[in-house]
Amino acid sequence: MSATSAAPALWPALLARADHLRDDLCLVGAKGHRVRFADGREALCGTSGLWNVNLGYGNEAVAEASARALRDASYLSVFRYSNTYARAAAETLVGLAGPDRFARVLFSTSGGAANDAVLKLVRHVHAIEGHSERRIVIGLRGSYHGLTYGGFSLTGENLGQQLYGVDPRFVRHVKPNAVDELNDILSALGDRVAAIVVEPVLGSGTVALDDAYVNALLALRSRHGFLLVADEVATGYGRVGPMFASSAWPDAPDVMLTSKGLTNGAAAASAILVSHRIAQAFENSDQVLVHAETQAGTPASCAVISAVAEEFTRLDALGNGQRIAAVLDAGLTSLAARLPVPTSTAGRGLFRTLHAHAPDGAPVGSAVVAQLITAVREAGAVVHPGPGGIQLIPALTYSEAEVAELLGCVERGFAQVATDGGFARPVLEPAS
Ligand SMILES: Cc1ncc(COP(=O)(O)O)c(C=O)c1O
Repeated sequence: MSATSAAPALWPALLARADHLRDDLCLVGAKGHRVRFADGREALCGTSGLWNVNLGYGNEAVAEASARALRDASYLSVFRYSNTYARAAAETLVGLAGPDRFARVLFSTSGGAANDAVLKLVRHVHAIEGHSERRIVIGLRGSYHGLTYGGFSLTGENLGQQLYGVDPRFVRHVKPNAVDELNDILSALGDRVAAIVVEPVLGSGTVALDDAYVNALLALRSRHGFLLVADEVATGYGRVGPMFASSAWPDAPDVMLTSKGLTNGAAAASAILVSHRIAQAFENSDQVLVHAETQAGTPASCAVISAVAEEFTRLDALGNGQRIAAVLDAGLTSLAARLPVPTSTAGRGLFRTLHAHAPDGAPVGSAVVAQLITAVREAGAVVHPGPGGIQLIPALTYSEAEVAELLGCVERGFAQVATDGGFARPVLEPAS
């Protein structure tokens, strides 16, 4: 049966229905730091895919590792079995994150699914330790932990949780970087809190947790006995400087999740690293964590994880990423003087937001942000929308020339929106 052109078979995620057939939004290929669209246009990727292609597109070693694993082992599970690819990848991850901090690794298939698993894991740990009353998990307002039911409940932005019947009973949210609020909620609920889950830099708006807040989290953990979880799905793999953002914390989280840069986008994989204490709790009690996924820990995904780790070293991705972050920082500072509206920046490393403001300082609304995204793309670069501005999330392997090109596209995009009168109209509309 032939499909009518008005009803495409593909239902793209979170894309307005009117845009489903647009060839200028349909990707056909990618190489290096550039993506190609179905209308024939090419653009500089200022987003590292979905913040995951940290080493750029078309990495040969990663492609070869995946192809070899598929040829040699096809599919092997870690569901009531183990496999050597998963063993090797787990060893690699513990080595990268620090064997003093983490003991064991569980594999999952996405950031959301990993957060689901973590909600079970933290409650199970407390139950093993005789505290099954500890069931509440605290997240941060404005955070993003995915759209699976568990991850969605933890996500601190209102994205329709109520509509979908997401169960909020065992989740609370507090304001990031507000130590008082943390103290208050723990005073009220402390002995029922299983865990606090934080993104070291919140992806939405790239809001970094400040040192005082991290120190308070660590001190309060000792006082109240909750587990501290770092959701490094986005901040891992050099995105904000070090391999993992929480490695710069004075003490380790009990659990760390990572996903995006883990495979450079080449496989649906995530990893949950757990502390020695958690590993020991399960070891001593001989209990089984009831979480498993058919496609977790497969040879191809784990071979990719191992290859990405090697490529990070071979390409000096962390070193280059830190150099490029400094170039981006300087570039953003000088760009601000040339933009037609006041701006401010947020974030760390290569995880940045450029906020645009009305003359009175109010952030621009989502309609203006959408215009900026389109105008910057028309100027030659893909950037992401953020609250009150655009997010710049380039690959760690960018060159200085590519940073200049990206900022040039941003400058032309802002100029175009100004010419179109975009900043004059709904500037005062509240940010979404
Ligand atoms: C911190 C964080 N956690 C979880 C997720 C969800 O990951 P996924 O889209 O793979 O489910 C994301 C995705 O952006 C994220 O940034």
